[in-house]
Amino acid sequence: MERTLVIIKPDAIQRGLIGTVMTRFENKGMQVVGCKLMQITNEIADKHYAEHVSKPFYPRIREYMTIGPSIVMVLQGPKAVAIVRSVMGSTFGDKAQPGTIRGDFSNGGFNLVHGSDSAESAAREIDIFFSKNEIINYDMANVLYLYGNDPTV
Ligand code: RTP
Ligand code: MG
Repeated sequence: MERTLVIIKPDAIQRGLIGTVMTRFENKGMQVVGCKLMQITNEIADKHYAEHVSKPFYPRIREYMTIGPSIVMVLQGPKAVAIVRSVMGSTFGDKAQPGTIRGDFSNGGFNLVHGSDSAESAAREIDIFFSKNEIINYDMANVLYLYGNDPTV
């Protein structure tokens, strides 16, 4: 099982899309193993987006991510990183495919949701937002019917 970090960004909270975003991931079989509402600070934003901090557009991203509270989640499932990215859609809402969260509900750079871009990023990002005791392992009753019976998937 793989884990990934998801952020339901401030625009999604303000637009009343928390349930919609969570439902998309739940429908796709992702298990919520960590979840909290928090105000992201400049310091946390800079840590999380370390790869972007020196880029010219970064001040706008920092303002966006700190403008109001976010929900941070750890989602778990087979291929969680890739599945979450596909459910999110590509970076900018105006170009993202219809059927994705970004494609259906956003128009530009305020793109509602973050998902880790690799297993390595996921491990780093989960560590920024969650302590070990905030992540809970538990069985889901319908695992067979969600993921099938191929142990390699
Ligand atoms: P995220 O990290 O938020 O999941 O988004 P992503 O992987 O699809 O895109 P990434 O390249 O990591 O960019 C992070 C966030 O920065 C904003 N951005 N603006 N050229 C620009 O103006 C620009 N490039 C990226 C987006 O809000 C993106 O979500
Ligand atoms: Mg990214």
